[in-house]
Amino acid sequence: MMLQLITSSVLGSGLRKAGFAGIVLSRSAIHYSSFQSQRFQPKLQFQRISAIAKDGNAGARSSAAKMVKAKTFKVYKAGGPEVLQWEDVEVGEPGDGQVRIRQTAVGLNFIDIYFREGIYAAPSSPFTPGMEAVGVVTAVGPGLTGRQVGDRVAYAGVIGAYAEERVIAADKVVPIPSNIDDVTAAAALLKGGTAQFLLRRLWKVENGTKILVHAAAGGVGSLLCQWGNALGATVIGVVSTEAKAAQAKEDGAHHVIIQPGDFAEKVKEMTNGEGVDIVYDSVGKDTFQQSLECLKRRGLMVLFGQSSGAPDPVPVGALAKKSLFLTRPSLMDYTVTRDERLENAGEVFSALAAGIIKVRVNQTYPLSQAAKAQKDLEERKTTGSTVLIVDSAEKL
Ligand SMILES: NC(=O)c1ccc[n+]([C@@H]2O[C@H](COP(=O)([O-])OP(=O)(O)OC[C@H]3O[C@@H](n4cnc5c(N)ncnc54)[C@H](OP(=O)(O)O)[C@@H]3O)[C@@H](O)[C@H]2O)c1
Repeated sequence: MMLQLITSSVLGSGLRKAGFAGIVLSRSAIHYSSFQSQRFQPKLQFQRISAIAKDGNAGARSSAAKMVKAKTFKVYKAGGPEVLQWEDVEVGEPGDGQVRIRQTAVGLNFIDIYFREGIYAAPSSPFTPGMEAVGVVTAVGPGLTGRQVGDRVAYAGVIGAYAEERVIAADKVVPIPSNIDDVTAAAALLKGGTAQFLLRRLWKVENGTKILVHAAAGGVGSLLCQWGNALGATVIGVVSTEAKAAQAKEDGAHHVIIQPGDFAEKVKEMTNGEGVDIVYDSVGKDTFQQSLECLKRRGLMVLFGQSSGAPDPVPVGALAKKSLFLTRPSLMDYTVTRDERLENAGEVFSALAAGIIKVRVNQTYPLSQAAKAQKDLEERKTTGSTVLIVDSAEKL
């Protein structure tokens, strides 16, 4: 089934301003048609990716099963960054409906920490963390069509990304347009996909919508500010330092509040006592109660993360005061079908190409240093997106 999107309505007025022309998505491919604006200029490039496809070891459709060894992180018990074990693992051949990918860049996400700490239940023990990566297909399962050795692909929301090479269901990966480099794709797909569903599907943010964005200089927060601004929203960001405030302003936040403090009071002042239409709260425990106070009558509370811990239980009656709406959404529930995944990724790549959003890759680490990267993320030392560069990909 082909799905033709009229992107000016899907992505909002920002794309119209940027002269975006169009995008067609299908189950097996994404075709990008002429972007009149190419303001987005990726800084970090992986030019040698084709070397992977030409590598004899990559194998084509796996005939005589050849074991591939790959460095992979394993977690045997929940705990701090030290529980990440860097091991040699044999990667099997892809089975029915699967592909094997040699990865180049892995996106770091706060959810990786929730899994490592045992806040979210891992699918197995031991397990390999990581929800997002980019790479090239090195083998396809028997009878699989629509994917070939050498395809550049990305995925978001499939655990097991902290690895040089892995096997994954073919319908979970999406092709990457040639104008988006590997590092940018790894930095943008999950976080940009989150911004996309929060701003465009959960509730359609439009001209005049007032939104409050917590952790506005973080990975998702930076993209929410940029995309929200492009849609015509009034954006209020909340951050913890002056430097983060400067970044959030650059990203389109009209007002920025520096924590700690009574941010609800400041939001009321900034909105003539009325409050905002939507709060995007990814911090949780430390902010949730005040976030409710920031909402106007019939406002929408979107709790989509818990960087500071799970918020205390809310009595339903707490929503009655202003007839508030409350949701606790997940990207996974908005990208259930192949069409939803293609639409989500397509909008992110289109918004990047059109300059609606610019992903800030403010930190990179070798994949082998993932423990250090996670520590920096949880200690609030990072801004924008962080990418783990697969060590062996750098040497190709
Ligand atoms: N529901 C979904 O589908 C979905 C998808 C993606 C991400 N998320 C959530 O979105 C949030 C952002 O993810 P991200 O990967 O982009 O991370 P991030 O925002 O880059 O990093 C977390 C930021 O949260 C802020 N923060 C406030 N209190 C904190 C605390 N006690 N400990 C650590 N950080 C704290 C910090 O910014 P300040 O220093 O400025 O306060 C920190 O930089 C996470 O909660 C994540 O789980 C949810």
